Amino acid sequence: MDLTFRRLTDGDLPTLHRWLNEPGVVRWWEGDDVSWKGVVGDYGSGSTDSTEHWVASLAGRDVGWIQCYPTADEPKEAEKWWGRGVDRTAAGIDYLVGDPADRGHGLGSAMIRAFVADVVFALHPGWTQACADPHAENVASWRALERAGFRFVGTVEGKDGPGRLMVTDRPPQKGTDRPAGRSRGFVDYDRVASLYRQGRSLPQEVLDRWGSAVSPFLPPGPIRVLDVGAGTGVFAQVWPQWATARVVAIEPSAAMVRAGDVVHPDASFVRCGAEALPVRDASTDVIWVSTALHHFFDVHRSVEEFARVLASAGQVLVRTYAPGRTEVTWANEFPGRPKWEMRFHTEDQLHAIFGAHGFVLSSVRDVVEWRESFADSARWAERMRDADSLLTALTDEEIAEGLERLRSNPTKIGRLELTLFVFRKDG
Ligand SMILES: C[S@@+](CC[C@H](N)C(=O)[O-])C[C@H]1O[C@@H](n2cnc3c(N)ncnc32)[C@H](O)[C@@H]1O
Repeated sequence: MDLTFRRLTDGDLPTLHRWLNEPGVVRWWEGDDVSWKGVVGDYGSGSTDSTEHWVASLAGRDVGWIQCYPTADEPKEAEKWWGRGVDRTAAGIDYLVGDPADRGHGLGSAMIRAFVADVVFALHPGWTQACADPHAENVASWRALERAGFRFVGTVEGKDGPGRLMVTDRPPQKGTDRPAGRSRGFVDYDRVASLYRQGRSLPQEVLDRWGSAVSPFLPPGPIRVLDVGAGTGVFAQVWPQWATARVVAIEPSAAMVRAGDVVHPDASFVRCGAEALPVRDASTDVIWVSTALHHFFDVHRSVEEFARVLASAGQVLVRTYAPGRTEVTWANEFPGRPKWEMRFHTEDQLHAIFGAHGFVLSSVRDVVEWRESFADSARWAERMRDADSLLTALTDEEIAEGLERLRSNPTKIGRLELTLFVFRKDG
């Protein structure tokens, strides 16, 4: 079907008003105000919410309306979806086919399928899923979702009765076996920011160890550093100790930036994601990504951005956990290893991702951060249960089992290390 989408304008409101008042539509509109005034207020250009309204056209004829919005902006409605395992980075969608004569021939499902691919995922790199919860009795609606590739995840109670919650995932990106956009949602940083700051701040001796690990790779003289996924700025504020560095810290979570409260003349924070860096081409010497790469919505797009903003022979220094390589002894005591390991990139995956964007791996080394007793690890893991991407992969039962094992061997000393990968822009 030759379906295209354009943004709804005020000129479309009379048509939308007519469509919304059509008996086959209005009965599912959950008591919304579909008077002319209501339609202008909710869908007109004066509306200020983040919902995007689109008109679907079939071979040039307007056939339907479809909207999308970040569920994160509608927490009251979305809480019950998140509780069913929908990503906090999911988009919600709503839709209608305007003319009754157009219904019942597969147009609705084709429209949803095309919209999700061409608008929801193509234009919003941060959205990892699309979802909707039509009334359980609105069989045509949830069947259209089903045919468009959505799966049923559960029944949720709505204002007017039970809804069938249906979800579809962003498709995996070509060239990687990891889904492109599943990472965000491992940890809700807006919620756990101050806990993160307490639990993940690093003593000066560990920071010094990292300073020594990166120093062989730094060009002489003043450098421009981007700290991407900077969190509370643990590293953004020490980079100026490691080198004559001006640091721009990139961090999407305002709560993390606030919790860090970094005030340093050579470090500034910009609130955005790695996928669209707000700096000019070839303007950066070093990109530092500390325990953040696996959180990015779209790691390929991010690394493509790294290649764009780095000057020639610029470097990306990645501090991360790499399954099969990095040792975090306490984690071995927890069941469910495959679940948390799959959240992180292996050495081979990192190689493939960076290689696809013109980087060569110039060095890898493990940096031992410290050693601690299992009793201390248990205390830390219990506190950080919701603030660490390894721990949030596990069920409460698995956490309890792991804590029990650590506590039963309290004096055993384990090692905590992270791995430094150095990728150089080739040419
Ligand atoms: C584990 S924290 C690491 C923070 C800091 N780099 C450190 O080492 O303490 C991961 C950070 O990545 C950020 N993040 C998540 N998605 C991101 C994205 N798409 N682009 C940039 N940062 C992102 C999170 O908000 C969070 O602050």
